Amino acid sequence: MEKYFIKTFGCQMNVYDSHRVAGLLEKRGLSAAERIEDADLVIFNTCHIREKAAEKLFSDLGRVILIKQERAAQGKDTVIGVMGCVVQAEDEQIFKRSAAVDFALGTLTYHRLPQILDDLAQKKAEMVIDTEFPAESKFDYLGENTSQGACSFIAIQEGCNNFCTYCVVPYTRGVETSRPVEDVVREARKLVSEGTLEINLLGQNVNSYHGEDALGKERNLAYLINKISEIDGLKRLRYTTSYPADVNDELIDCHKNVPILMPYLHLPVQSGSDRILKAMNRRHTAGEYLEVIAKLREANPALRFASDFIVGFPDESDEDFQATLDLADKVKFITAFSFKYSPRPGTPAAEYEHQVPEKIKKERLAVLQDKLFGYQLNFNKEMVGKIVPVLFEGDGRHKGQLTGRTPYMQNLYAEAGDECRGKIVNVKIETATMNSLSGTIAGD
Ligand code: 5AD
Ligand code: SF4
Repeated sequence: MEKYFIKTFGCQMNVYDSHRVAGLLEKRGLSAAERIEDADLVIFNTCHIREKAAEKLFSDLGRVILIKQERAAQGKDTVIGVMGCVVQAEDEQIFKRSAAVDFALGTLTYHRLPQILDDLAQKKAEMVIDTEFPAESKFDYLGENTSQGACSFIAIQEGCNNFCTYCVVPYTRGVETSRPVEDVVREARKLVSEGTLEINLLGQNVNSYHGEDALGKERNLAYLINKISEIDGLKRLRYTTSYPADVNDELIDCHKNVPILMPYLHLPVQSGSDRILKAMNRRHTAGEYLEVIAKLREANPALRFASDFIVGFPDESDEDFQATLDLADKVKFITAFSFKYSPRPGTPAAEYEHQVPEKIKKERLAVLQDKLFGYQLNFNKEMVGKIVPVLFEGDGRHKGQLTGRTPYMQNLYAEAGDECRGKIVNVKIETATMNSLSGTIAGD
């Protein structure tokens, strides 16, 4: 095997996992293929959060089977693997739905990929599936992480104990586990030494992080943020995704006292109705959510918020939905991800009575998005004329153009030379749309 191709669906945790798997493969001497057709090993890293996300996998698998057949006609073998949350949820059904799959790896066992590739090569197995929730941590086996460029992710926490009634995560990622403080700090130092300027600490429930320090004492996210912020050369720090009821005062203080902590926080609320929040098994009311936001704003007035919403949760009435719209008006989120409720097999809410008809879900989503997109566009427009530090990462749409991100995670395009790549450069914002900004380099 010489070339691999990984296609990633879903969240940033999956992006991180794919990067770690690529690291394992590169250690074995494989390199990334530009096109799927050139790959001896194709891996789909999958998402199961909503029905649509899972269905995408099966349509992609259909296409890759044809590629496998074409390559076979040219005498080339193709190994196809599936990893991630769909595997954890579907288990052996994966092979039933697609016979072309050679191996399937769950979310907590992908460090075993090298062994599985060896077994397949030696024909010790025809198909391999591993969906265990092992006692050992994959991080002890993955080796050192490598830089993902100017912006890097570090998974610090995985799994969730909240069991929101609509959500598959506790089943696909297991119970909460946190990586030790020292491991995370070492990974952060290494990434910064390789050119990373921005680190995003990842976890499904990142603010309930409780990793052990060198003396075996449990430490929280605020402690970790303070430690990482001491790393020389690190310019920006973020964490995603937080659970509102677990935002404690120490974490709020970080937004006041840690200058490199960016003024943007993704804090999913899901609904503005207390009745629905209760049915969702969220451990907070709308009022408590707004209190957390108020405290964070007091700690750092520049802070702006992003959120996730679900519309059409079972039994959601017009009044419940109105409460969601009201909450959106109160916070004026600068970005928001909103979804129609999707019943997930095995989750409690999928069995609830009074499922909301698709037509109503669709209507509510359109109304909510209209509002949310309006706030997003307004915020972007407010930036016009301002000078903003932008971390440039990749190529823009045209030659001579680079893309980067503002402190508020906005995408920005600017005419910029290669010397700006991987650097933070001041940019004067010229235009704004809902999804991006453009500007010109403003120098110091
Ligand atoms: N239906 C719709 N949206 C969902 N999410 C999670 N589970 C479901 C579901 N069953 C959304 C939540 C969560 C985001 C990652 O996906 O808003 O915060
Ligand atoms: Fe899912 Fe709720 Fe856990 Fe978020 S907090 S991962 S929505 S169970």
